[in-house]
Amino acid sequence: MDGEPPKLEFRGRLPLVLPGAGRVLRDPEANWPPEILERSVVEARAAGRRLVLLASPEAVNEVLLNQDGDFPRARLHDRMLGASYGDNLVRGDRADWRRQRRQLLQPFNTPGAAAPEARIALACDRIVDEWLRTEDGAPLDVIRDARRFTLDSLWRSFFCDEAEARAVEPLVEATAQTMDAHETAPLTGHLEDLRPLAELALERERARLDADGAGVAAVDLNTMLLFLHAGHDNVAAALAWALWLLAEHPDWQARVRDEWRGRSGAGFDAGAFPVAGAVISETLRLYPPIMHLIREANRDLEVEGETVPGGFTTVLSLYAMHRNRQWWDMPDAFRPGRFLTAAPDLRRRLLWAPFGTGPRGCVGSAFARTEMIVALGTILDRLELTPGPGGMACRVDFVLRPEGRQAVTARPLGRDGTGAAGGR
Ligand code: HEM
Repeated sequence: MDGEPPKLEFRGRLPLVLPGAGRVLRDPEANWPPEILERSVVEARAAGRRLVLLASPEAVNEVLLNQDGDFPRARLHDRMLGASYGDNLVRGDRADWRRQRRQLLQPFNTPGAAAPEARIALACDRIVDEWLRTEDGAPLDVIRDARRFTLDSLWRSFFCDEAEARAVEPLVEATAQTMDAHETAPLTGHLEDLRPLAELALERERARLDADGAGVAAVDLNTMLLFLHAGHDNVAAALAWALWLLAEHPDWQARVRDEWRGRSGAGFDAGAFPVAGAVISETLRLYPPIMHLIREANRDLEVEGETVPGGFTTVLSLYAMHRNRQWWDMPDAFRPGRFLTAAPDLRRRLLWAPFGTGPRGCVGSAFARTEMIVALGTILDRLELTPGPGGMACRVDFVLRPEGRQAVTARPLGRDGTGAAGGR
């Protein structure tokens, strides 16, 4: 790659006096001041609302790890997301969110079920088989196919056994394709696309609880929609970014492939793949799919020596923290090596928070990491990725997405990693 991968260019001015707070968040390029990449606290005003943009590990510590309910998920966040999803688990004021979270994770707390890697690999092989049949040199639509893979993999891993997965495959496939075709539709449109699958998932979830004698389902249709959406959309964006970054960095691609090929036959352990892990961490640093977390400050807050008075809506910008010039060396460059050594202290660890953290952090972070490691290994074992004829750019629609359907091509690999394997 010549130079650095694409980034957002913030062009907003200080102080921000804007027609609506939602707009500040939906269109950060036009509205956020560039100072947020150099400072920890930037105050803004939008439609009479006091907003403060935060980009520091101390803010993560104070706001996200707070256990006392002083910084609840903001009503603004509920309106932006909750209104689309309806009343569901993500709502800041939802009283039974702990119960819902526990239930969603139950399949992974059951011995044996907590080993989804074989199912993930099956879902991935389906896509790689297709890619191997692609005409030589034709671009791979990694954005569409990452979504097809992650929806299939989530479905197989959480809701059914292999025989059932095959029966539902046409619905999963049609849902992913429709969502891809509705790429720029608002979230509400995407949720409508997911509705038939969510109804089926809920039916299965209720049957599972019944069979286990585990009581009444805490999860309702809105939460199931949220789960199916949050459980595949973010991973799809991250995986598409990772595949493109690896196509542009053959050295890291070779290291991920070698690590995968050298794996032991024993059970899957994400920690046994430090190189793939570092590539994933660096991808999520550069392109955190959820760019910002919005919390109400019900009390004063100290961040890097500055006082943020209570009453503000705080916008913790993961993107700006991950690229802040104060904390990172060459913040816009793809350098996975920075994640190969453990962070020396808590402050350094909290600088990287693509999954959020604390009581309302992501429920699926471990699954997402497993999924991405298995996908990268499975793909790179069989294919060499190369830059395609088109470029990649960023698009923000609350989620930070890759935009560029011609940015990656591939050629088949033999087991020795050097020759063509045939099969195309
Ligand atoms: C790369 C992939 C992913 C990223 C970057 C990501 C990121 C996030 C973030 C930033 C939050 C909000 C945390 C907060 O507000 O503090 C979140 C919440 C959530 N995520 Fe993920 N996520 C990913 C994958 C997944 C997967 C695979 C699942 C399900 C299997 C999932 C399910 C959820 C749910 C249910 C919530 C809401 C939790 C709550 O409100 O208590 N996510 N995720």
